[in-house]
Amino acid sequence: MRLFLFSFFLLAVSCTPGNPGGSDVDFQEIRSVFGSDFPVEPPLDYQSNAPSYVQLDNRIGSDIDDKKATLGRVLFYDKNLSLNNTIACASCHQQNAAFGDTSSRSIGLDGGLTGRQSMRLTNLRFSNEGKMFWDERAVSLNDQVTQPIQDHIEMGFSGLQGQPGMNSLLAKLDSIPYYNELFLWAFDNESATEAFIAEALTDFVSSIESFDSKYDQGVQSSGTITGPFSNFTAEENHGLDLFLTPAQLNSSGIRISGGIGCAGCHQPPEFSIGAGVRNNGVDHVAGDPSGFDTTNTKSPSLRDVLGINGIPNTPMMHTGDFLEFTTIIEHYNEVIPDVNNITMDPRLAKGPSVVKMELTTSEREDLESFVKTLTGSALYADIRWSSPF
Ligand code: HEC
Ligand code: HEC
Repeated sequence: MRLFLFSFFLLAVSCTPGNPGGSDVDFQEIRSVFGSDFPVEPPLDYQSNAPSYVQLDNRIGSDIDDKKATLGRVLFYDKNLSLNNTIACASCHQQNAAFGDTSSRSIGLDGGLTGRQSMRLTNLRFSNEGKMFWDERAVSLNDQVTQPIQDHIEMGFSGLQGQPGMNSLLAKLDSIPYYNELFLWAFDNESATEAFIAEALTDFVSSIESFDSKYDQGVQSSGTITGPFSNFTAEENHGLDLFLTPAQLNSSGIRISGGIGCAGCHQPPEFSIGAGVRNNGVDHVAGDPSGFDTTNTKSPSLRDVLGINGIPNTPMMHTGDFLEFTTIIEHYNEVIPDVNNITMDPRLAKGPSVVKMELTTSEREDLESFVKTLTGSALYADIRWSSPF
Protein backbone atom coordinates (compact mmCIF):
# COMPACT_ATOMS: atom_id res chain seq x y z
CA MET A 1 0.00 0.00 0.00
CA ARG A 2 2.79 2.38 0.92
CA LEU A 3 4.62 1.53 -2.32
CA PHE A 4 1.48 2.16 -4.31
CA LEU A 5 0.96 5.57 -2.72
CA PHE A 6 4.57 6.51 -3.34
CA SER A 7 4.47 5.73 -7.06
CA PHE A 8 1.16 7.55 -7.39
CA PHE A 9 2.82 10.62 -5.91
CA LEU A 10 5.71 10.43 -8.43
CA LEU A 11 3.27 10.10 -11.29
CA ALA A 12 1.31 13.14 -10.16
CA VAL A 13 4.42 15.31 -10.01
CA SER A 14 5.80 14.27 -13.40
CA CYS A 15 2.46 14.87 -15.11
CA THR A 16 2.02 18.48 -14.07
CA PRO A 17 1.74 20.37 -17.38
CA GLY A 18 4.50 22.82 -18.23
CA ASN A 19 6.50 21.56 -15.31
CA PRO A 20 9.17 19.24 -16.78
CA GLY A 21 11.01 17.24 -14.17
CA GLY A 22 9.24 19.15 -11.44
CA SER A 23 10.93 22.46 -12.21
CA ASP A 24 9.41 25.80 -13.07
CA VAL A 25 11.29 27.50 -15.86
CA ASP A 26 10.44 31.17 -16.26
CA PHE A 27 10.49 31.43 -20.07
CA GLN A 28 9.48 35.09 -19.80
CA GLU A 29 12.81 35.83 -18.13
CA ILE A 30 14.66 34.20 -21.06
CA ARG A 31 12.50 35.95 -23.68
CA SER A 32 12.95 39.33 -22.04
CA VAL A 33 16.69 39.08 -22.84
CA PHE A 34 16.79 37.15 -26.14
CA GLY A 35 13.49 38.25 -27.72
CA SER A 36 10.01 36.77 -27.87
CA ASP A 37 10.91 34.38 -30.70
CA PHE A 38 13.94 32.88 -28.95
CA PRO A 39 13.58 29.12 -29.44
CA VAL A 40 13.02 27.56 -26.04
CA GLU A 41 9.57 26.01 -26.38
CA PRO A 42 10.54 23.95 -28.38
CA PRO A 43 14.29 24.37 -28.88
CA LEU A 44 15.79 24.27 -32.40
CA ASP A 45 16.86 20.88 -33.72
CA TYR A 46 20.61 20.42 -33.22
CA GLN A 47 20.79 16.79 -34.39
CA SER A 48 23.39 16.09 -37.05
CA ASN A 49 22.34 16.00 -40.69
CA ALA A 50 25.62 14.45 -41.80
CA PRO A 51 25.10 12.34 -44.94
CA SER A 52 25.48 8.57 -44.62
CA TYR A 53 28.86 8.50 -46.41
CA VAL A 54 30.31 10.50 -43.51
CA GLN A 55 31.47 7.71 -41.23
CA LEU A 56 33.92 9.32 -38.84
CA ASP A 57 32.45 10.64 -35.60
CA ASN A 58 34.46 11.31 -32.46
CA ARG A 59 31.48 12.22 -30.29
CA ILE A 60 31.57 10.47 -26.93
CA GLY A 61 28.34 9.41 -25.20
CA SER A 62 24.74 10.21 -26.06
CA ASP A 63 23.33 12.32 -28.90
CA ILE A 64 23.34 16.09 -28.80
CA ASP A 65 20.63 17.43 -26.50
CA ASP A 66 18.74 20.35 -28.11
CA LYS A 67 18.27 22.23 -24.83
CA LYS A 68 21.91 21.87 -23.82
CA ALA A 69 23.04 22.97 -27.28
CA THR A 70 20.75 26.03 -26.99
CA LEU A 71 22.34 26.92 -23.65
CA GLY A 72 25.73 26.25 -25.28
CA ARG A 73 24.85 28.78 -27.99
CA VAL A 74 24.20 31.45 -25.36
CA LEU A 75 27.42 30.63 -23.48
CA PHE A 76 29.46 30.63 -26.72
CA TYR A 77 28.36 34.19 -27.56
CA ASP A 78 28.37 35.60 -24.02
CA LYS A 79 31.17 37.98 -23.05
CA ASN A 80 30.26 37.36 -19.41
CA LEU A 81 32.42 34.24 -19.73
CA SER A 82 35.51 36.46 -19.68
CA LEU A 83 36.90 38.20 -16.65
CA ASN A 84 36.38 41.75 -17.93
CA ASN A 85 33.28 41.07 -20.07
CA THR A 86 35.06 41.79 -23.36
CA ILE A 87 35.71 38.35 -24.89
CA ALA A 88 33.35 35.51 -25.88
CA CYS A 89 34.25 32.22 -27.57
CA ALA A 90 32.75 33.84 -30.68
CA SER A 91 35.31 36.68 -30.55
CA CYS A 92 37.91 34.19 -31.82
CA HIS A 93 35.56 31.65 -33.43
CA GLN A 94 33.45 33.72 -35.86
CA GLN A 95 30.55 32.28 -37.85
CA ASN A 96 31.45 34.32 -40.96
CA ALA A 97 34.94 32.77 -40.86
CA ALA A 98 33.74 29.16 -40.48
CA PHE A 99 34.17 29.60 -36.71
CA GLY A 100 37.82 30.63 -36.91
CA ASP A 101 39.37 34.08 -36.61
CA THR A 102 40.22 36.44 -39.46
CA SER A 103 43.29 37.60 -37.48
CA SER A 104 46.48 35.55 -37.51
CA ARG A 105 46.64 35.38 -33.76
CA SER A 106 43.59 36.25 -31.71
CA ILE A 107 43.21 39.06 -29.27
CA GLY A 108 42.28 37.91 -25.77
CA LEU A 109 41.82 39.66 -22.47
CA ASP A 110 43.49 43.07 -22.22
CA GLY A 111 44.84 42.85 -25.78
CA GLY A 112 47.02 39.78 -25.14
CA LEU A 113 47.66 37.60 -28.22
CA THR A 114 47.06 33.86 -28.37
CA GLY A 115 50.10 31.66 -28.97
CA ARG A 116 48.58 30.13 -32.13
CA GLN A 117 45.96 30.75 -34.82
CA SER A 118 42.35 30.09 -33.65
CA MET A 119 41.15 26.88 -35.23
CA ARG A 120 38.00 26.73 -37.34
CA LEU A 121 35.39 24.66 -35.49
CA THR A 122 33.52 23.41 -38.58
CA ASN A 123 32.84 19.63 -38.65
CA LEU A 124 35.08 19.19 -35.64
CA ARG A 125 33.10 16.10 -34.66
CA PHE A 126 33.66 14.29 -37.96
CA SER A 127 37.23 13.19 -37.51
CA ASN A 128 39.14 10.17 -36.33
CA GLU A 129 41.11 12.56 -34.24
CA GLY A 130 39.07 13.32 -31.12
CA LYS A 131 41.93 15.13 -29.41
CA MET A 132 41.80 18.92 -29.52
CA PHE A 133 44.15 21.81 -30.33
CA TRP A 134 46.92 21.97 -32.96
CA ASP A 135 49.16 19.89 -30.70
CA GLU A 136 46.33 17.58 -29.52
CA ARG A 137 46.95 18.38 -25.86
CA ALA A 138 43.26 18.14 -24.85
CA VAL A 139 42.04 14.54 -24.76
CA SER A 140 38.50 15.34 -25.92
CA LEU A 141 36.13 18.18 -26.80
CA ASN A 142 34.50 17.96 -23.38
CA ASP A 143 37.93 18.32 -21.81
CA GLN A 144 38.78 21.24 -24.12
CA VAL A 145 35.77 23.57 -23.98
CA THR A 146 36.31 25.03 -20.51
CA GLN A 147 40.06 25.50 -21.02
CA PRO A 148 39.76 28.84 -22.90
CA ILE A 149 37.68 30.19 -19.98
CA GLN A 150 40.52 29.27 -17.63
CA ASP A 151 43.26 30.49 -19.93
CA HIS A 152 45.18 33.42 -18.56
CA ILE A 153 45.24 35.21 -21.92
CA GLU A 154 41.99 34.08 -23.53
CA MET A 155 39.15 34.59 -21.00
CA GLY A 156 40.98 34.90 -17.71
CA PHE A 157 39.28 32.78 -15.01
CA SER A 158 42.59 31.02 -14.48
CA GLY A 159 42.91 31.17 -10.70
CA LEU A 160 46.54 32.18 -11.31
CA GLN A 161 48.56 35.39 -11.05
CA GLY A 162 45.84 37.22 -9.14
CA GLN A 163 43.02 36.17 -11.50
CA PRO A 164 39.96 34.55 -9.89
CA GLY A 165 39.22 30.92 -10.75
CA MET A 166 36.32 28.92 -12.14
CA ASN A 167 34.27 29.22 -8.92
CA SER A 168 34.15 32.93 -9.44
CA LEU A 169 32.70 32.44 -12.94
CA LEU A 170 30.12 29.98 -11.56
CA ALA A 171 29.04 32.55 -8.96
CA LYS A 172 28.87 35.21 -11.69
CA LEU A 173 26.62 33.05 -13.87
CA ASP A 174 24.42 32.21 -10.86
CA SER A 175 23.83 35.92 -10.38
CA ILE A 176 22.52 36.34 -13.96
CA PRO A 177 18.77 35.58 -14.05
CA TYR A 178 18.67 34.21 -17.62
CA TYR A 179 21.29 31.63 -16.68
CA ASN A 180 19.25 30.48 -13.67
CA GLU A 181 16.39 29.76 -16.07
CA LEU A 182 18.51 28.27 -18.87
CA PHE A 183 20.41 25.90 -16.55
CA LEU A 184 17.13 24.90 -14.89
CA TRP A 185 15.63 24.21 -18.33
CA ALA A 186 18.61 22.27 -19.72
CA PHE A 187 19.89 20.53 -16.58
CA ASP A 188 17.04 20.69 -14.07
CA ASN A 189 19.26 22.70 -11.78
CA GLU A 190 19.46 26.48 -11.80
CA SER A 191 22.99 26.59 -10.49
CA ALA A 192 25.86 26.49 -13.01
CA THR A 193 28.61 23.88 -12.62
CA GLU A 194 31.77 23.41 -14.66
CA ALA A 195 30.46 20.04 -15.86
CA PHE A 196 27.17 21.61 -17.09
CA ILE A 197 29.07 24.36 -18.93
CA ALA A 198 31.33 21.76 -20.55
CA GLU A 199 28.38 19.62 -21.61
CA ALA A 200 26.42 22.56 -23.06
CA LEU A 201 29.41 23.96 -24.98
CA THR A 202 30.32 20.47 -26.24
CA ASP A 203 26.80 19.95 -27.58
CA PHE A 204 26.80 23.35 -29.28
CA VAL A 205 30.29 23.11 -30.79
CA SER A 206 29.83 19.54 -32.00
CA SER A 207 26.61 20.54 -33.80
CA ILE A 208 28.46 22.98 -36.10
CA GLU A 209 28.58 21.20 -39.45
CA SER A 210 28.82 21.86 -43.17
CA PHE A 211 27.70 19.27 -45.71
CA ASP A 212 26.06 21.25 -48.51
CA SER A 213 29.12 21.81 -50.69
CA LYS A 214 29.49 21.18 -54.42
CA TYR A 215 31.63 18.18 -53.44
CA ASP A 216 28.72 16.74 -51.43
CA GLN A 217 26.38 17.21 -54.38
CA GLY A 218 28.91 15.31 -56.49
CA VAL A 219 29.12 12.43 -54.02
CA GLN A 220 25.34 12.27 -53.68
CA SER A 221 24.73 12.09 -57.40
CA SER A 222 27.58 9.71 -58.25
CA GLY A 223 27.61 7.42 -55.20
CA THR A 224 31.41 7.60 -54.89
CA ILE A 225 33.61 9.83 -52.74
CA THR A 226 36.49 9.78 -55.20
CA GLY A 227 34.84 11.20 -58.33
CA PRO A 228 34.99 12.08 -61.11
CA PHE A 229 31.75 14.03 -60.64
CA SER A 230 29.42 15.16 -63.41
CA ASN A 231 28.68 18.45 -61.61
CA PHE A 232 32.42 19.32 -61.57
CA THR A 233 34.37 21.13 -64.26
CA ALA A 234 37.29 19.27 -65.85
CA GLU A 235 39.63 21.42 -63.73
CA GLU A 236 37.85 20.54 -60.48
CA ASN A 237 37.91 16.83 -61.31
CA HIS A 238 41.61 17.07 -62.14
CA GLY A 239 42.24 18.91 -58.85
CA LEU A 240 40.37 16.17 -56.96
CA ASP A 241 42.53 13.56 -58.67
CA LEU A 242 45.74 15.41 -57.72
CA PHE A 243 44.50 15.69 -54.13
CA LEU A 244 43.74 11.96 -53.87
CA THR A 245 46.58 10.33 -55.78
CA PRO A 246 49.98 9.93 -54.11
CA ALA A 247 53.03 11.24 -55.94
CA GLN A 248 55.48 8.88 -57.62
CA LEU A 249 58.98 10.17 -56.89
CA ASN A 250 62.29 9.25 -58.47
CA SER A 251 65.36 8.47 -56.36
CA SER A 252 66.21 12.17 -56.13
CA GLY A 253 62.83 12.99 -54.59
CA ILE A 254 61.40 14.57 -57.74
CA ARG A 255 57.83 13.78 -58.77
CA ILE A 256 57.73 11.93 -62.07
CA SER A 257 54.02 11.00 -62.09
CA GLY A 258 50.90 10.70 -59.94
CA GLY A 259 49.22 13.42 -57.89
CA ILE A 260 50.32 15.11 -54.66
CA GLY A 261 48.55 12.89 -52.15
CA CYS A 262 46.96 15.46 -49.83
CA ALA A 263 44.35 12.80 -48.98
CA GLY A 264 47.04 10.73 -47.26
CA CYS A 265 46.51 13.05 -44.28
CA HIS A 266 43.38 15.16 -45.03
CA GLN A 267 41.02 12.26 -45.59
CA PRO A 268 37.85 12.44 -47.71
CA PRO A 269 34.91 12.68 -47.39
CA GLU A 270 35.43 14.47 -44.04
CA PHE A 271 38.75 16.10 -45.05
CA SER A 272 39.73 15.91 -41.39
CA ILE A 273 43.25 15.02 -40.33
CA GLY A 274 44.00 11.31 -40.03
CA ALA A 275 44.88 9.91 -36.61
CA GLY A 276 48.62 9.45 -36.24
CA VAL A 277 49.62 12.22 -38.65
CA ARG A 278 52.87 13.85 -37.59
CA ASN A 279 53.97 17.37 -38.34
CA ASN A 280 53.94 18.74 -41.86
CA GLY A 281 57.08 20.85 -41.79
CA VAL A 282 55.41 24.05 -40.60
CA ASP A 283 57.62 24.00 -37.57
CA HIS A 284 58.09 27.53 -36.29
CA VAL A 285 56.45 29.36 -33.43
CA ALA A 286 53.55 31.67 -34.38
CA GLY A 287 54.86 35.21 -34.51
CA ASP A 288 58.47 34.06 -34.11
CA PRO A 289 60.05 32.60 -37.26
CA SER A 290 63.22 31.74 -35.37
CA GLY A 291 61.40 29.77 -32.66
CA PHE A 292 61.05 26.03 -33.21
CA ASP A 293 57.77 24.13 -32.58
CA THR A 294 57.21 20.66 -34.02
CA THR A 295 54.39 19.62 -31.68
CA ASN A 296 51.60 20.51 -34.13
CA THR A 297 49.99 17.55 -35.80
CA LYS A 298 46.31 18.46 -36.09
CA SER A 299 44.54 20.51 -38.74
CA PRO A 300 40.91 21.63 -38.83
CA SER A 301 38.92 19.99 -41.62
CA LEU A 302 39.76 21.40 -45.05
CA ARG A 303 36.03 21.81 -45.61
CA ASP A 304 35.34 25.55 -45.57
CA VAL A 305 39.04 26.41 -45.36
CA LEU A 306 38.10 28.74 -48.23
CA GLY A 307 35.07 31.00 -47.90
CA ILE A 308 32.11 31.32 -50.27
CA ASN A 309 34.11 33.94 -52.23
CA GLY A 310 37.02 31.49 -52.69
CA ILE A 311 39.32 33.46 -50.38
CA PRO A 312 40.66 31.75 -47.22
CA ASN A 313 38.26 32.18 -44.29
CA THR A 314 41.17 32.56 -41.87
CA PRO A 315 44.94 32.81 -41.99
CA MET A 316 46.13 29.20 -42.09
CA MET A 317 48.39 26.75 -40.23
CA HIS A 318 49.06 27.00 -36.47
CA THR A 319 51.33 29.95 -37.22
CA GLY A 320 48.56 31.89 -38.99
CA ASP A 321 51.07 33.20 -41.51
CA PHE A 322 49.75 31.38 -44.58
CA LEU A 323 47.41 34.04 -45.93
CA GLU A 324 46.77 32.79 -49.48
CA PHE A 325 46.01 29.31 -50.72
CA THR A 326 48.93 29.68 -53.12
CA THR A 327 51.26 29.82 -50.07
CA ILE A 328 49.88 26.47 -48.96
CA ILE A 329 50.59 24.98 -52.39
CA GLU A 330 54.09 26.46 -52.28
CA HIS A 331 54.72 24.77 -48.94
CA TYR A 332 53.78 21.32 -50.21
CA ASN A 333 55.36 21.82 -53.62
CA GLU A 334 58.84 21.73 -52.14
CA VAL A 335 59.09 19.96 -48.84
CA ILE A 336 62.36 20.83 -47.22
CA PRO A 337 63.35 18.34 -44.55
CA ASP A 338 64.71 20.11 -41.51
CA VAL A 339 67.48 18.11 -39.91
CA ASN A 340 66.15 19.10 -36.50
CA ASN A 341 62.63 18.09 -37.35
CA ILE A 342 62.70 14.37 -36.61
CA THR A 343 58.96 14.32 -35.98
CA MET A 344 58.09 15.26 -39.55
CA ASP A 345 55.62 12.91 -41.24
CA PRO A 346 57.27 10.38 -43.57
CA ARG A 347 54.48 10.90 -46.11
CA LEU A 348 56.10 14.29 -46.76
CA ALA A 349 59.77 14.03 -45.80
CA LYS A 350 61.77 11.42 -47.71
CA GLY A 351 65.18 11.28 -46.16
CA PRO A 352 67.55 14.23 -46.37
CA SER A 353 66.70 15.39 -49.92
CA VAL A 354 64.18 18.09 -50.75
CA VAL A 355 60.98 16.55 -52.14
CA LYS A 356 59.93 18.41 -55.28
CA MET A 357 56.40 18.11 -56.64
CA GLU A 358 57.22 20.50 -59.49
CA LEU A 359 53.57 21.48 -59.85
CA THR A 360 52.71 23.29 -63.06
CA THR A 361 50.64 26.47 -63.07
CA SER A 362 47.57 24.62 -64.27
CA GLU A 363 48.00 21.86 -61.67
CA ARG A 364 48.12 24.51 -58.95
CA GLU A 365 45.00 26.20 -60.31
CA ASP A 366 43.15 22.90 -60.57
CA LEU A 367 44.03 21.93 -56.99
CA GLU A 368 42.71 25.25 -55.73
CA SER A 369 39.53 24.92 -57.85
CA PHE A 370 38.92 21.57 -56.23
CA VAL A 371 39.44 22.84 -52.66
CA LYS A 372 36.84 25.53 -53.43
CA THR A 373 34.25 22.78 -53.96
CA LEU A 374 34.57 21.82 -50.27
CA THR A 375 32.82 25.02 -49.13
CA GLY A 376 29.17 25.01 -48.10
CA SER A 377 26.78 27.89 -47.51
CA ALA A 378 24.34 27.05 -44.68
CA LEU A 379 27.19 27.19 -42.16
CA TYR A 380 27.47 30.95 -42.52
CA ALA A 381 23.77 31.74 -42.16
CA ASP A 382 22.08 29.09 -40.01
CA ILE A 383 20.63 30.80 -36.92
CA ARG A 384 21.21 27.68 -34.80
CA TRP A 385 24.85 28.79 -34.70
CA SER A 386 24.44 32.55 -34.75
CA SER A 387 24.49 35.03 -31.90
CA PRO A 388 21.38 34.95 -29.70
CA PHE A 389 22.18 38.40 -28.30
C1 HEC B 1 41.17 34.66 -27.45
C2 HEC B 1 40.78 33.75 -28.51
C3 HEC B 1 40.00 32.51 -28.17
C4 HEC B 1 38.87 32.41 -27.39
C5 HEC B 1 38.18 33.49 -26.57
C6 HEC B 1 38.45 31.03 -27.50
N1 HEC B 1 39.28 30.33 -28.32
FE1 HEC B 1 39.07 28.43 -28.90
N2 HEC B 1 40.88 28.47 -29.80
C7 HEC B 1 41.69 29.58 -29.87
C8 HEC B 1 43.02 29.21 -30.32
C9 HEC B 1 44.20 30.14 -30.49
C10 HEC B 1 42.98 27.79 -30.52
C11 HEC B 1 44.18 26.90 -30.91
C12 HEC B 1 45.06 26.85 -29.66
C13 HEC B 1 46.17 25.83 -29.69
O1 HEC B 1 46.08 24.85 -30.41
O2 HEC B 1 47.14 26.02 -28.95
C14 HEC B 1 41.62 27.37 -30.18
C15 HEC B 1 41.16 26.07 -30.29
C16 HEC B 1 39.87 25.67 -29.95
C17 HEC B 1 39.35 24.34 -30.13
C18 HEC B 1 40.10 23.14 -30.70
C19 HEC B 1 39.64 22.82 -32.11
C20 HEC B 1 40.32 21.60 -32.70
O3 HEC B 1 40.02 21.27 -33.85
O4 HEC B 1 41.15 20.95 -32.05
C21 HEC B 1 38.05 24.36 -29.68
C22 HEC B 1 37.07 23.21 -29.65
C23 HEC B 1 37.78 25.69 -29.18
N3 HEC B 1 38.90 26.47 -29.38
C24 HEC B 1 36.59 26.08 -28.61
C25 HEC B 1 36.45 27.27 -27.89
C26 HEC B 1 35.35 27.56 -26.98
C27 HEC B 1 34.18 26.64 -26.69
C28 HEC B 1 35.58 28.80 -26.45
C29 HEC B 1 34.80 29.55 -25.40
C30 HEC B 1 34.63 28.89 -24.12
C31 HEC B 1 36.82 29.28 -27.06
N4 HEC B 1 37.32 28.32 -27.91
C32 HEC B 1 37.34 30.53 -26.83
C33 HEC B 1 41.31 30.87 -29.56
C34 HEC B 1 40.25 31.20 -28.74
C1 HEC C 1 51.77 14.24 -43.94
C2 HEC C 1 50.45 14.73 -43.74
C3 HEC C 1 49.95 15.86 -44.61
C4 HEC C 1 49.88 15.92 -46.00
C5 HEC C 1 50.29 14.87 -46.99
C6 HEC C 1 49.27 17.19 -46.30
N1 HEC C 1 48.98 17.88 -45.14
FE1 HEC C 1 48.07 19.67 -45.02
N2 HEC C 1 48.35 19.67 -43.00
C7 HEC C 1 48.94 18.65 -42.27
C8 HEC C 1 49.11 19.10 -40.88
C9 HEC C 1 49.70 18.28 -39.75
C10 HEC C 1 48.63 20.42 -40.82
C11 HEC C 1 48.65 21.37 -39.61
C12 HEC C 1 50.07 21.92 -39.54
C13 HEC C 1 50.33 23.07 -38.62
O1 HEC C 1 49.60 24.06 -38.63
O2 HEC C 1 51.34 23.00 -37.90
C14 HEC C 1 48.15 20.74 -42.16
C15 HEC C 1 47.56 21.94 -42.52
C16 HEC C 1 47.04 22.23 -43.77
C17 HEC C 1 46.30 23.42 -44.09
C18 HEC C 1 45.95 24.53 -43.11
C19 HEC C 1 44.64 24.29 -42.48
C20 HEC C 1 44.21 25.36 -41.51
O3 HEC C 1 43.09 25.28 -41.03
O4 HEC C 1 44.98 26.28 -41.22
C21 HEC C 1 45.95 23.33 -45.41
C22 HEC C 1 45.12 24.33 -46.19
C23 HEC C 1 46.49 22.09 -45.91
N3 HEC C 1 47.16 21.45 -44.89
C24 HEC C 1 46.35 21.66 -47.22
C25 HEC C 1 47.03 20.56 -47.74
C26 HEC C 1 47.11 20.26 -49.14
C27 HEC C 1 46.44 21.06 -50.25
C28 HEC C 1 47.88 19.14 -49.25
C29 HEC C 1 48.35 18.46 -50.51
C30 HEC C 1 49.14 19.29 -51.37
C31 HEC C 1 48.25 18.74 -47.91
N4 HEC C 1 47.73 19.64 -47.02
C32 HEC C 1 49.02 17.63 -47.59
C33 HEC C 1 49.30 17.43 -42.76
C34 HEC C 1 49.40 17.10 -44.09
